[in-house]
Amino acid sequence: MLKNDSKWIKIISTATDSKNIIFLDSLWEGFMKYLENAVIKSINMLNDNVCDIKLHCPRVAKNACPGQFIEIYPDNGVNILSRPISICEADKIIGTVRVVFQLVGAGTKLFATKKIGDTLRILGPCGNGYSIGENSIESSVVLVGGGIGVPPLLYAAKSIIGEKTIILGYRTSPFLADEFIRYGNVFVCTDDGSEGYHGNVVSFMRENNISGDYILSCGPKIMLRYLSEYAVENSIPCQVSMEERMACGIGACVGCAIPIDVNGEVVNKKVCKDGPVFDCKEVIWQ
Ligand SMILES: Cc1cc2nc3c(=O)[nH]c(=O)nc-3n(C[C@H](O)[C@H](O)[C@H](O)COP(=O)(O)OP(=O)(O)OC[C@H]3O[C@@H](n4cnc5c(N)ncnc54)[C@H](O)[C@@H]3O)c2cc1C
Ligand code: FES
Repeated sequence: MLKNDSKWIKIISTATDSKNIIFLDSLWEGFMKYLENAVIKSINMLNDNVCDIKLHCPRVAKNACPGQFIEIYPDNGVNILSRPISICEADKIIGTVRVVFQLVGAGTKLFATKKIGDTLRILGPCGNGYSIGENSIESSVVLVGGGIGVPPLLYAAKSIIGEKTIILGYRTSPFLADEFIRYGNVFVCTDDGSEGYHGNVVSFMRENNISGDYILSCGPKIMLRYLSEYAVENSIPCQVSMEERMACGIGACVGCAIPIDVNGEVVNKKVCKDGPVFDCKEVIWQ
């Protein structure tokens, strides 16, 4: 209930030297976001436009779950707003979080210039994350990712014990796809046919009658919309991770609100706080 409440962020950010924080930490472990100066342990370009960073941030890592994201703050004094980036992997023992992101504008391009040993100020883990079935060992799960929506599914693939069908879509050259192989049956789709199935992920699913106990997905809105139609037609519960432009990233500005159907009533929900993961049947696709 208090997992994403911004008052806890304020407490953490203003009272990190206080002894009380230790009490609050243990009390709310698993419910809070942490501000950390995360040290870069590795940084690589996966291709010309996609950067892969591993950060040492033990408190964020310890509390992370698949489908959540972190906010990364640019430190150039010009770009003030944090940038939301999904957690691609979290190692709770070593205390690292991995993020994989596309170079889009000032923020992401700045992050990609960093070196090993530099720090990035981050806040996390943010958002609700996927609901992964308690009996995941007996489940058959379909993971569907598109483009830069692929990274968070790696963490999900790693965390689910049951049988996994993993369908990854790209415009052209795939990235990260090889890392999924050890977790399930992987199918790559490309728009230009340069690798794998020639076409989009939903066409692939239709042609191959892909089914499972539930679907977890992340990708462009148009992909999620067609996937949602497929899931409803085939009576497969489907969770979609929505992407909206964000400003505050902590539920304060309403900039990321989207209409959600709650028992027949349209309610504006914040992607950064109530999401990013929603039941596909609740999303009002526009
Ligand atoms: C929950 C969530 C998870 C995401 N995970 C990833 C990921 O794992 N990998 C990845 O490559 N991208 C991801 N994105 C998109 C990523 O946040 C944007 O590409 C990034 O913020 C762009 O910042 P910029 O400074 O490079 O671009 P600019 O266009 O200069 O950004 C200007 C402002 O708009 C915001 N903004 C721009 N595009 C987006 C966007 N698509 N979503 C939200 N805010 C945006 C920025 O945060 C910034 O405040 C995610 C977005 C969301 C909402
Ligand atoms: S980005 Fe401000 S409420 Fe979500």
